[in-house]
Amino acid sequence: MDENIDVLLSETRSFPPPDAFARDAHINTDAIYRLADKDYEAYWASAAGSLEWMAPWKTVLEWTPPHSKWFVGGKLNVSANCVDRHIRTPNRNKAAIIWEGENGDRRTLTYWDLYREVQQFANVLKGLGVQKGDRVGIYLPLIPECAVAMLACARIGAIHSVVFGGFSPDSLRDRMNDAEAKVLITADGGYRRGQVVPLKRNVDKALVEAPTVKHVVVVQRRQGGFSDLFTEMKPGRDAWYHELMATAKADCPPAAMDAEDVLFILYTSGTTGKPKGIVHTTGGYLTGAATSTKIVFDLKDSDVFWCTADVGWITGHTYLVYGPLANGATCVMYEGAPDWPQRNRFWEICERHGVTILYTAPTAIRAFMKWGDEHPAKHDLSRLRLLGSVGEPINPEAWMWYHEHIGGKRCPIVDTWWQTETGSIVISPLPGLTATKPGSGTKALPGYFAELLDSTAVRIPVGGGLLALTKPWPSMLRTIWNDDARYVQTYFTKWNNRPDIYFPGDGAKRDDDQYFWILGRVDDVLNVAGHRIGTMEVESALVEHHAVAEAAVVGKTHEVKGQAIAAFVTLREGFTQSAALRDELKKFVANKIGALARPDDILFSADLPKTRSGKIMRRLLRDIAEGRALGDTTTLADPGVVSALKSQYEEKEG
Ligand code: PRX
Repeated sequence: MDENIDVLLSETRSFPPPDAFARDAHINTDAIYRLADKDYEAYWASAAGSLEWMAPWKTVLEWTPPHSKWFVGGKLNVSANCVDRHIRTPNRNKAAIIWEGENGDRRTLTYWDLYREVQQFANVLKGLGVQKGDRVGIYLPLIPECAVAMLACARIGAIHSVVFGGFSPDSLRDRMNDAEAKVLITADGGYRRGQVVPLKRNVDKALVEAPTVKHVVVVQRRQGGFSDLFTEMKPGRDAWYHELMATAKADCPPAAMDAEDVLFILYTSGTTGKPKGIVHTTGGYLTGAATSTKIVFDLKDSDVFWCTADVGWITGHTYLVYGPLANGATCVMYEGAPDWPQRNRFWEICERHGVTILYTAPTAIRAFMKWGDEHPAKHDLSRLRLLGSVGEPINPEAWMWYHEHIGGKRCPIVDTWWQTETGSIVISPLPGLTATKPGSGTKALPGYFAELLDSTAVRIPVGGGLLALTKPWPSMLRTIWNDDARYVQTYFTKWNNRPDIYFPGDGAKRDDDQYFWILGRVDDVLNVAGHRIGTMEVESALVEHHAVAEAAVVGKTHEVKGQAIAAFVTLREGFTQSAALRDELKKFVANKIGALARPDDILFSADLPKTRSGKIMRRLLRDIAEGRALGDTTTLADPGVVSALKSQYEEKEG
């Protein structure tokens, strides 16, 4: 971390908003910060007031740390806010979702189309017996039906749990079981890098051990289906989306939901092997999503907004679906890989649809840099007016490249820090107001209170420390599904004397201008290509293999992915290391969790470095994986283990 601080300290470039941008921006004075600082409840009440409520709230905030309730007593419906509101305006026929499939398919859904499809699908769900509070799994490629399914759930008060299509059948099964989902929505397949991902086949495997799921709705991704690789429909359980929709009525009034009713569960990795079901509720979440989309992206009616994230992640929930649709925006949605069929695919999409706001991840930006300037240079990107970054710290070089080669030096960049748990962006520049610095998320948005604290909760004005959120905010997670004790333990016990302070798990630095520079996780959570993966999750997967006795997983720096996974493995008696076993273990982890968790390196070792009390010393493993000089080894039970490991690792790398 110290190294990072040094690098960041030398970053002195600053980019004030261009005059023309500032002049037209929603926010170009700091009055909003003063207002929110003075009375944050009043600020959030006024933000919530821009939504459509069926019944007004009685209390803005009930805060009994660490549990918060927002807009208590208020009633609203998220799908009515994202769809119905706009069909009563001239935006009725505006494009809501402009979709491109990886294979070149294209579809555009207007708000009116969405209005009809969402109601039809809500009726389909009702027909399958889904009721308010029931859980519905969504395991789809990135197609418009993702938004339709999410909004249909919201319409009738069902709780959705979206599982990223890249996750394995086992991961899907665990998530369906934890949430006790009743219905699962999937597709026969989805395109990724020219291949078809057999989603339905994964579902069939997953459901062998997920008894709560009684119905599966299958979207036909391609007309005619994928008969070549397709699994059968199970009678009584499986039904085709298009067949159910053909007879469903497009009339389903939105349910009046309590502001604190659960809108969705989204699973994310933590420091144990078991993913956490992050719970978000209705009124607060939508307030955070809608407000941040409007002010961070300076979203206007004429914009074409492209958030490149998949709906399987929180970024896709908040900035591909709920935030933009609540604002009546036009969104671009793209199913596939950025280098398919060519490395210019993103820029072709930007040009074709006249994208004005692009929101993507540093790992993608680093890949684009590597692929070369010529790909964006071939395209007219002059419509772009604002760029965003999310998911991990962006290196200043990547920021500068984004600024120059994508933004044509004219577009402000918003580096947005937030988490699955925060629901919406917390730290970010406001593009018409804040002078940006490459690599810094700058400041907390109005209504959020971020601080840098030491381990005793003392504020650090300048320097490095632990990031903390000292007041509740509307879109904060309410709990962990079925595990409130873990919620309290994970987020509110970092500072014993302050059980009201939220700990996000990140370290950060604050500079002389009070800007934040996020340094990354301080716990055993990795950030691989912007995706959170718990080291324990990968370790648990490895030890499930019959040849593995023990495993320890650490992150190592990776040029494009930010971090890559390095695993240290000891084998059971009777097994010997080999290149074939190494490959088998990599595949095994990918099958258990999903390709995103596949280790880059696996090193076999007779023993792992442990303290005398038996704790694996990951710090040393990280030193080894990074090729650094070994730190203090005096507390080890057997200091010989690490030097042996180190030379073995170097041999392999060399
Ligand atoms: O470590 C931070 C990093 O991603 C974590 C949250 O991951 P997840 O819940 O998957 O959500 C990702 C998308 C919001 C954070 O704890 N992170 C996210 N955005 C940034 C970031 N680190 C630095 N800068 C960011 N802009």
